[in-house]
Amino acid sequence: MNNSKKLPNIGLLGCGQMGCGIARAFCNFGFSAIIYDYDTFQLKKGKMLIDQKIAENKIVETIDLSFTNNLEDLETSDLIIECVSEKLETKKQILAKVSRTTKRNCIIATNTSSFLINELALSVAIPERFIGMHFMNPAHMIPLVELIKGDKTSAKVIDFCEKTLALIHKTFVHVKDSPGFILNRTLIPMINEAAFLVHGGIGTVEDIDKAIKLGSNNPTGPLQLADAIGIDTIYSILDSLAMRLKDAKYNPCPLLLEYIEKGWLGRKSSKGFYTYD
Ligand SMILES: NC(=O)c1ccc[n+]([C@@H]2O[C@H](COP(=O)([O-])OP(=O)(O)OC[C@H]3O[C@@H](n4cnc5c(N)ncnc54)[C@H](O)[C@@H]3O)[C@@H](O)[C@H]2O)c1
Repeated sequence: MNNSKKLPNIGLLGCGQMGCGIARAFCNFGFSAIIYDYDTFQLKKGKMLIDQKIAENKIVETIDLSFTNNLEDLETSDLIIECVSEKLETKKQILAKVSRTTKRNCIIATNTSSFLINELALSVAIPERFIGMHFMNPAHMIPLVELIKGDKTSAKVIDFCEKTLALIHKTFVHVKDSPGFILNRTLIPMINEAAFLVHGGIGTVEDIDKAIKLGSNNPTGPLQLADAIGIDTIYSILDSLAMRLKDAKYNPCPLLLEYIEKGWLGRKSSKGFYTYD
């Protein structure tokens, strides 16, 4: 625990969009956080983007956030949230590794979009202290978090997570452990369908987003949302839903793979359905 404020120390695995966003969500409320990534470029990029945002928005004077490529630096974390790429083997490996290096009473959560908590729980040393905490992007702005208990998650851990989320002004829903939970089971097929509309030449990217935004009173169009989430992440989620739910309706639109092969991953690579500065 952080002695001055008695707030849990937060560790993040993965310095991508979600690791950085969740770190900001906690740090904005006085928590101390550390982000681990194996890629030093990602660590530098994450630090630069967060420094820029703090300077632009003047949310708080300083935040207590550090970056590391040494997993052992997370050994004092009370809550570790795994946010590495949506690849099953990568998640299993990092969860097993962090279980070995962290203190025994640390709670480990995963921010997976589509894998089962019970499946990932097999990789951690203490499944009773493992839970799904699915934040949305951008995590420091969107109030909702899906909480997913595994078969072995203890009641104390659920209670801890609920109370900790309240401290950063998040609200939550409890979801049964199931691929894609609530949000991605509904949003991702809509994004996939919108990609099929682009692929089939049914409408332009702009018109498809405009139709959904104005026609269904939605703040964001599905293709804008795809760019914000990341085309590679969308593809992995669809792939996982198709396999786990055994339903071809989740098969990814071929256009998504074409974009990934071109390196068009959305906002994070400055090009996806739209182009960014
Ligand atoms: N993007 C979204 O809108 C969103 C929303 C909710 C949940 N998620 C989930 O959050 C997770 C992260 O998504 P993201 O958008 O931040 O992805 P991202 O591509 O922006 O970042 C992933 C990060 O993981 C790091 N990484 C990969 N393998 C690693 C390893 N073995 N060790 C350490 N670091 C490793 C990469 O270097 C990268 O920095 C995924 O599971 C995704 O499904 C994403």
